[in-house]
Amino acid sequence: MSVHKEVKKVTTHVLQEMKRKGEKIAMLTAYDYTMAKIIDAAGIDIILVGDSASNVMAGHETTLPITLDQMIYHASSVIRAINRALVVVDLPFGTYQGNSKEALNSSIKIMKESGAHSVKMEGGREIKDSIERILTAGIPVMGHLGLTPQSIYKFGTYTVRAKEEEEAERLLQDAKLLESYGCFALVLEKIPADLAKQVAESISIPVIGIGAGGGVDGQVLVTHDMLGMTHEFSPRFLRRYLNLYESMGNAFKQYINDVKAKDFPNENESY
Ligand code: KIV
Repeated sequence: MSVHKEVKKVTTHVLQEMKRKGEKIAMLTAYDYTMAKIIDAAGIDIILVGDSASNVMAGHETTLPITLDQMIYHASSVIRAINRALVVVDLPFGTYQGNSKEALNSSIKIMKESGAHSVKMEGGREIKDSIERILTAGIPVMGHLGLTPQSIYKFGTYTVRAKEEEEAERLLQDAKLLESYGCFALVLEKIPADLAKQVAESISIPVIGIGAGGGVDGQVLVTHDMLGMTHEFSPRFLRRYLNLYESMGNAFKQYINDVKAKDFPNENESY
């Protein structure tokens, strides 16, 4: 039987075992109780309370404005829904870059106040001290390389990263360093598939890709994007499993019509 089917609760060790056995890891984002409950019941391995909540839930253009307390609010709503998945919470911009003490304090606050299982941070060698310090408190850390949205003003665009040899080489080294610091897994965002595969084959921790091809150990998508609730952009890596923008829009229109036409509520829907 697959590891995925066997386990009652996904832990960092389970993910390691899945990589060892060549079993792909499925990860999705969630920011609220109801969505997290549906995703967990469907059998997802990892739920990411991503700082993409800043875009998806709050309507900001970037991930930068979301605060630690807002992330904790989302994470604790998700945690109340979970029976099986491992829950990873993004450390938001400005809560770990200052120094390792700040990074540790932010991580402890997330773990204590939300009940989450681990944290994720963007960056490579430059956040070594923070990763190591967080790990000394027993908090598992997931890394994130490639397109790191918290650095969008440095990059200037959301285009594919590490296409040039120098950046690709640095990314490969950073992935090895993140493993050596003790990260339990790594997200690779929007980089060439060949490079992502090379990274996944060079390190023993699971590598989860988004826009990083099929040669990695697992995949992550933003749930609202894969459900087609968002529709303003269509990056090539995004597979839309539903068109909820349209079907929800139609349901809302139908409801409005029913109310206006005095069709809703009818007798059976009244006390
Ligand atoms: O915040 C997020 O949703 C993420 C994923 C895109 C990996 O970091």
